[in-house]
Amino acid sequence: MGADVAELAALAVAVAREAGEFLRTGSDHALEIATKSSPTDVVTEMDTAAEQLIRRRIHERRPADDILGEEGGGGAASGAGGVRWIVDPIDGTVNYLYGIPQWAVSIAVEVDGVIVAGVVFDPCKDELFTAIRGEGARLGDRPVQVRECHELGQALVGTGFGYAASRRARQAEVLTGVLPVVRDIRRLGSAALDLCAVACGRFDAYFEQGLNLWDFAAAGLIAAEAGARVAGLRGAPPSNRLVLAATPGIFDALQELLAALGADEVETHD
Ligand code: IPD
Repeated sequence: MGADVAELAALAVAVAREAGEFLRTGSDHALEIATKSSPTDVVTEMDTAAEQLIRRRIHERRPADDILGEEGGGGAASGAGGVRWIVDPIDGTVNYLYGIPQWAVSIAVEVDGVIVAGVVFDPCKDELFTAIRGEGARLGDRPVQVRECHELGQALVGTGFGYAASRRARQAEVLTGVLPVVRDIRRLGSAALDLCAVACGRFDAYFEQGLNLWDFAAAGLIAAEAGARVAGLRGAPPSNRLVLAATPGIFDALQELLAALGADEVETHD
């Protein structure tokens, strides 16, 4: 593949840390807010400023690379060197807006169409999740692994909701079928951190319909490298239709349940 993945990952870590600190220290004033796809889909001035900072830092070092960002678009194809950065400056924007310390900077590096490195930085807890394809996942310096669970009834399952009312109505129906058969459900508000929670055993599983690539590109790799199975339904890869990540002992059962509930039958865009 030609690219030095460790070097790309190190740049992703440095940029995620800088953007995270910028966001953490800059969040103590009233934020200017705009809405995107619906009144519930908010973007703050800080999302935009952080993404600009991330783009600038990447381009200072790698001017030819393409960048797909939540706030700035772009990045439909890989850059000239086959390298594309997939960036969510704040995953968990609503938490950020309300001062809830559960949001993260997410940066994935894709080379020739394959995600090779993922970095998710939670500045409020100073937790840095990283993975390089084939080399496992880490929380700080420590390797992390999914927890063992073999019964859906003992599974703590994370999920999340999109912004469009019609999609939320479907998500509520699916939840009605899942909640009675699992240990409990959590909705913490950051898909990237939810997937990292699966990676380090804080959740047994996570699923969500309608995610964008920047929500799950980095953390999907982190969960997979920690031993989770990460997929969609009915043989599909994870996509904006459905992302499911689970410890192997309950993956099949949860995938079957979600398929039976038609969890992938959602509008795929807000
Ligand atoms: C959102 C968060 C949330 C998930 C939504 C995402 P954003 O990302 O990850 O947990 O439920 O589907 O859109 O908008 O905060 O970057």
